[in-house]
Amino acid sequence: MLDEAWIAEALSEELGAPIAVAVAYGPADVDALSGTERRRYADLVGTPRCDSWLRGRAALKRLLVGIGDPPDTSALVFPHLRVSLTHCGRYAVAVALEGRGSGLGVDLEIRRSLPAEAARFFLSRGERELLPDPEGPALLRLWTVKEAVFKADPGNSGRGLLDYQVADPTVRRGEACLGRDPAMLIRYASLPVQGGFLTAAVATSAGTQKPARPVRSADSEPRRVGVLGERVEGQAHRGRVWP
Ligand SMILES: CC(C)(COP(=O)(O)OP(=O)(O)OC[C@H]1O[C@@H](n2cnc3c(N)ncnc32)[C@H](O)[C@@H]1OP(=O)(O)O)[C@@H](O)C(=O)NCCC(=O)NCCS
Repeated sequence: MLDEAWIAEALSEELGAPIAVAVAYGPADVDALSGTERRRYADLVGTPRCDSWLRGRAALKRLLVGIGDPPDTSALVFPHLRVSLTHCGRYAVAVALEGRGSGLGVDLEIRRSLPAEAARFFLSRGERELLPDPEGPALLRLWTVKEAVFKADPGNSGRGLLDYQVADPTVRRGEACLGRDPAMLIRYASLPVQGGFLTAAVATSAGTQKPARPVRSADSEPRRVGVLGERVEGQAHRGRVWP
C-alpha cells in the first residue's frame, strides 16, 4: 500500500504548493463511467492499455471528488496544468495542484532497476558525469524525475526527456529547465517508496519563484511529517503547505 496521506503532505511541503493525492489499487467500476468515458473504454477493451487506463480513471475520479470537482475524467487532457497521473503495477497515482497551476507532473517506478546503459537515453553527458553511481538507485530516481518534469511541461508535444536538464542530478529535490527555454523552470521532489521512487514536478516561471532548497541526501527518506486532518473515505488526501 502507498501512504496517500504521507505522500500528499511530503510533496506539498517539499514543493511548496498544496498537492492533493489519490491512489487506486484496482480498476474503476465500468458502471460508474460517464458516457464519454464509456466510449473511450469501449475503444480500449481487449488492448493491453485497458487495465491501466481503468486504474487511472479510478485514481482520477477519487482525486476529482477529493478536490470538489465532478468525477467525470473525460474533460482532462494531458499534459494538464493542474492534474497528472501515473500507473505502475497495480497502483495508479493521481495528483492535483489545489488552486491555479502552470503544469504538474508525477511518475512512479517501484520494484525495478534500470541498467546503466539506459542512462544515455534520458540523461545528458553532463548529467551522467555527475551521477555518483551509474548503477545505483539514483538512476531510477532520475528516470522518474525526467518523466515527471516532462509531464509537467504544458508544451511537451514533440519533446523528449533529453530536452530537459536537471540542475543537480545528485539531489532528491531540485530544479530542471527546458534546454531551449531557460524561462521555464520545473521544480521536482522525489520520495522513496517501496524500493523505488515517486516524483512530482511543478512548472513555474523563472524569476517569479524562490529557488528550491536542494536536499543533499540524494536517495534518503524525507522526514516523516504529521498527518493533518482525518482520512475521508473515497476522497483524495489534500496536502497542506507546512508553515
Ligand atoms: C507519455 C509518457 C510520459 C507516459 O509515461 P509512462 O511512464 O509510460 O506511464 P505513466 O503510467 O507514468 O503515465 C501515463 C499517464 O501519463 C499521462 N500522459 C500521457 N501523455 C502525456 C503527456 N504528453 N504529458 C503529460 N502527461 C501525459 C496520461 O494520463 C497517462 O495515463 P492514461 O493514458 O491512463 O491517461 C511517456 O511514455 C513519454 O512519452 N515520455 C517522454 C518521451 C520520451 O522522451 N521518451 C524516450 C524515453 S527513452
